[in-house]
Amino acid sequence: MKVLVTGGAGYIGSHMVRMLDELGYAVVTFDDLSAGFRDAVLGGEFVQGSLHDKAALSALFGAYQFDAVVHFAGSIAVGESVRDPAKYYQNNLVGTLNLFDAMRAHAVNKLVFSSTAAIFGEPQYVPIDEQHPQLPINPYGMTKWVTERILRDYDAAYGLRSVALRYFNAAGAAPDAALGERHDPETHLIPLALRAAKGELHELTVFGADYDTADGTCIRDYIHIEDLCDAHVLALQHLASGGESRAYNLGNGQGYSVKEVIQVAERVSGKKVPVQYGPRRAGDPPRLVADAGKIRKDWNWTPRFAALEQIVEHAWQWEIKTDIKG
Ligand code: UFG
Repeated sequence: MKVLVTGGAGYIGSHMVRMLDELGYAVVTFDDLSAGFRDAVLGGEFVQGSLHDKAALSALFGAYQFDAVVHFAGSIAVGESVRDPAKYYQNNLVGTLNLFDAMRAHAVNKLVFSSTAAIFGEPQYVPIDEQHPQLPINPYGMTKWVTERILRDYDAAYGLRSVALRYFNAAGAAPDAALGERHDPETHLIPLALRAAKGELHELTVFGADYDTADGTCIRDYIHIEDLCDAHVLALQHLASGGESRAYNLGNGQGYSVKEVIQVAERVSGKKVPVQYGPRRAGDPPRLVADAGKIRKDWNWTPRFAALEQIVEHAWQWEIKTDIKG
C-alpha cells in the first residue's frame, strides 16, 4: 500500500512515517518544513512542498499512485489560533481543500484525518464519547470541526472514505528515543516540565490553580504517540478493506492534573521541577478526558503504553538524548 503522509516531518507525522515504513508500507512524506524537521523523517521518500501550492500537489499525485493519505499537515496551537485565525483558516481549511481536490483529481479516495478533542469545546460531561455535542470554542477547533463536516459531504458526493481521529493529548516519544516531541516554540506541558527539570527552562508556569478540580489544576488525557499511531494503522487497514467512513475519540480514558504530571516528571527525572503559578491560559477547559470505548470495541485498539509514567519516561529519554546532541 502506498501512503502519502502530509506533515510527515512533524511530531506525530514523523512517528507515523517511521511506523508505516517499518510495517512495509511505501511512504511518501509531503511537508513544507514550516513546523517540521527534515531529519525527523526516518523512512520512505521526502517531498518538500506546501498544501498551498496546487501545482506541487498535482505533480505529487501524478508522480505516485497513492492508495491512501494520512493528513497531519496543519497548524496546531489553540492560543495562536485565537490571535491569528486567518493563519488557521488558510492552513487548515484552504490547504486541506487543496489536498482533497488533488485526491479527487487523481481518484484517491481513502483518508485518515488528524482531528482533535478541541472540536467538542467546553465539555458538557467527561469522559467525552462520540455523541458529545460538538461546539468548538476556538478557531483551531473550528477548522478541524469544519473539515469533519466537509468529509461527510465529500463521502456522500464523491465517495471519499475517511477516518477522523480526535486526539486528546498526544505525548511521549519513540521507546528507543530515535524520535520525540519537537515544536518551536514548545508550548506543551510534558516537554516543558522535563526541560524545567533539566534546568534548560528557568521554571514551569502552571496556567491556573483555581479550576474546579481536586487540586485546582486542569485535567488532561495523555496518549502515547505510538498508541496514537497504532490507531492510524488500524484506520488504514479498515479503509483498505473497503470500510466506510468513521470518526473516533482517541485517548487513554484517564485524566491527570497538571500537578500530577509535574510529580511524575519529578519521579522520572529524579529532579525537582521549579514551578511558578500564573493565571489561566485562555481557552483551556478544566477537564478533557476521552471515552475511547468505540475504537477499542470496533478495532480492538489497545494502548501499549497507557501508564503516564511510561509516557513521561520515553519523553525524558528523548529530552536527555537531545541534550547530549547539543
Ligand atoms: N500547561 C501549563 N503550563 C505550560 C503548558 C501547559 O500549566 O507551560 C497546562 C495547560 O494549561 C493545560 C495542560 O497543561 O491545562 C496541557 O497543556 P498542553 O499545552 O500540553 O496541551 P493542551 O491540552 O492545551 O492541547 C492539546 C493539543 C492541542 C489540542 C488540545 C485540545 O496540544 O492541539 O489538546 O483541546 F487542540
